[in-house]
Amino acid sequence: MLIRFKKRFEKIAMGLLSFMPDEKEVKRLQHTIEEYKSNEHWQLFLWKVEEDVLGAIGVEKNEDNKSVTVQHISVNPSHRNMGIGKEMVNAVKDHYEPDYDVTPNQNTQRFLEKCHKESEE
Ligand SMILES: CC(C)(COP(=O)(O)OP(=O)(O)OC[C@H]1O[C@@H](n2cnc3c(N)ncnc32)[C@H](O)[C@@H]1OP(=O)(O)O)[C@@H](O)C(=O)NCCC(=O)NCCS
Repeated sequence: MLIRFKKRFEKIAMGLLSFMPDEKEVKRLQHTIEEYKSNEHWQLFLWKVEEDVLGAIGVEKNEDNKSVTVQHISVNPSHRNMGIGKEMVNAVKDHYEPDYDVTPNQNTQRFLEKCHKESEE
C-alpha cells in the first residue's frame, strides 16, 4: 500500500533513498529528506506491507502544474524483482493521472520506461 511519508519513517526512508545512485553522500541524502519534509512541491511516498516499509518513490510537482517528475524510486534489496517497483509506479500514476502527467528524470528514466513498455504490451 502506498502511504505518504511520515516523520517516524525518516530513517528507513533515508536508507531506501540511499540506493539511488545520486544519493550516496550523507549530506546530499539529508538535504533530500529535508526537501521532502519542507518543500510543498515535493512528495515522498512509501510502500508499506503490513508493518514493513519496503520501498520509496518521490515526486516533484512541476511549475507547469500539469506534470510531476519521479525523482527517486527504490526498493529494499531483499524484496526486489517481486513487482514492488512496478506497483509503486502504478500507484503513483493512479494518484496523479489524469490531472498530471507522470514523467521520469534522468535518474528514474530506465525503470519508468520499462514499466511503461510493459503496460503497453
Ligand atoms: C529499480 C528498482 C526500484 C526496481 O524495483 P523492483 O521492485 O525490483 O522492480 P520490479 O520487481 O517491479 O521489476 C523488476 C524488473 O525491473 C528491472 N530493473 C531493475 N532495475 C532497473 C533499472 N534501473 N532500469 C530498468 N529496469 C530495471 C529488473 O531487471 C526486472 O526486470 P524483469 O521483470 O524483466 O526481470 C530497484 O531495482 C531499486 O531499488 N534499484 C536501486 C535504486 C535505483 O537505481 N533506482 C533508479 C532506477 S532507474
